[in-house]
Amino acid sequence: EKRMMPYDAIGEEKLSALVDAFYRRVGKHPDLIPIFPEDLTEVARRQKQFLTQFLGGPPLYSQEHGHPMMRARHLPHEITPVRAKAWLSCMSEAMDEVELEPDFREFFYSRLAITANHMVNTPDEAQ
Ligand code: HEM
Repeated sequence: EKRMMPYDAIGEEKLSALVDAFYRRVGKHPDLIPIFPEDLTEVARRQKQFLTQFLGGPPLYSQEHGHPMMRARHLPHEITPVRAKAWLSCMSEAMDEVELEPDFREFFYSRLAITANHMVNTPDEAQ
């Protein structure tokens, strides 16, 4: 018997729509624009791979890029508490746009909030 994993509750198509809706907002957010590249195509592609495995789906990110080491990969970027909040607000709005099932949404958002806070590497006043 195969256990249900969170990835099955969203699926490839909806996860892809979520990530696209998310980066549309990142690309317009005044707190995030300064640290993201203008072309968000590649980061969106990697984020789809990462979130697939984050939710227990196939390890697409690791297969192409090796160990995720997400905090280490974010160290070159100044991730302040304000930017973590901005990231999460873009994600929350994207979740509203694609209409995730409420229980799954709550589970996924709370996991992302923990991860986003873990990514903070710079105090607000240093930004
Ligand atoms: C990459 C910002 C949180 C997953 C990046 C990049 C930036 C960034 C600036 C590099 C873009 C580039 O130049 O290519 C932030 C900020 C966050 C945050 C401000 C706020 C806390 C997260 C979280 C996750 C995540 C919570 C996962 C749940 C990724 C992934 C990449 C990435 C998968 C691509 C890594 C790679 O392979 O290069 N992020 N990030 N980020 N971020 Fe975040």
